[in-house]
Amino acid sequence: MTGPGQPPMKPLEFVAYAPPEMAARAREFLAEIRRRRSVRQFSPRPIPRQVLEDCIAAAASAPSGANKQPWTFVLVTDPELKQRIRVAAEKEERSFYHGRAPKRWLTDLKPFGTDWRKPFLETAPALIVVFAQKHGETAAQQHYYVNESVGIAVGFLLAALHHAGLATLTHTPNPMSFLRYVLDRPASERAYMLIPVGLPADGCQVPDISRKSPEDVLVHRGPR
Ligand SMILES: Cc1cc2nc3c(=O)[nH]c(=O)nc-3n(C[C@H](O)[C@H](O)[C@H](O)COP(=O)(O)O)c2cc1C
Repeated sequence: MTGPGQPPMKPLEFVAYAPPEMAARAREFLAEIRRRRSVRQFSPRPIPRQVLEDCIAAAASAPSGANKQPWTFVLVTDPELKQRIRVAAEKEERSFYHGRAPKRWLTDLKPFGTDWRKPFLETAPALIVVFAQKHGETAAQQHYYVNESVGIAVGFLLAALHHAGLATLTHTPNPMSFLRYVLDRPASERAYMLIPVGLPADGCQVPDISRKSPEDVLVHRGPR
């Protein structure tokens, strides 16, 4: 509806599919997204910059509370900066794995074979560091549902990178505050996720884990 006092509107661009094509597309997407795995061994082979920028643009098209788009994506390919990030992350992770982490957490991490060492932060050709903006340029410029919005954007980013044929890891060094200083970001931003991106190393291995079955995660209320 348009009229006096109404915000400007425009026609929706929407592609509709007949049910068989809809079903086929859903199945294809499911098969593709199910192949995504977290990769912790990367090849140093470089990735075209445009591919990374397009995937970040896909992430930035995500919905957000009141369309505030409360995210910043820092694309790091500089070897010296990657090394600084690795050194700082390993410092935090060493004290996490050897002191700060509760026993239960360490037990839950056992199946992944991870430890404080993070060589992939230097080997991966690119790191995408996602920051959540607590507010806009001034504190008066409020942002809403920041965590939810940035989480959705990261989901878009991971799906876009995977679709482009790239491997990722959702890495959350504990704590991550060092990233704001290393990457010179303002106090209004909080490091949200550190995502190494690239191709898997030859012979890359991943943990042999499974997902819950659809019946365990889907509750249907409605006629059969
Ligand atoms: C919010 C979040 C934080 C994570 N943090 C780490 C991390 O710091 N280090 C790591 O090796 N994996 C991390 N992971 C990866 C998970 O271990 C991985 O997604 C999970 O085991 C499922 O495996 P898959 O991604 O290969 O399917 C994280 C995943 C999420 C979603």
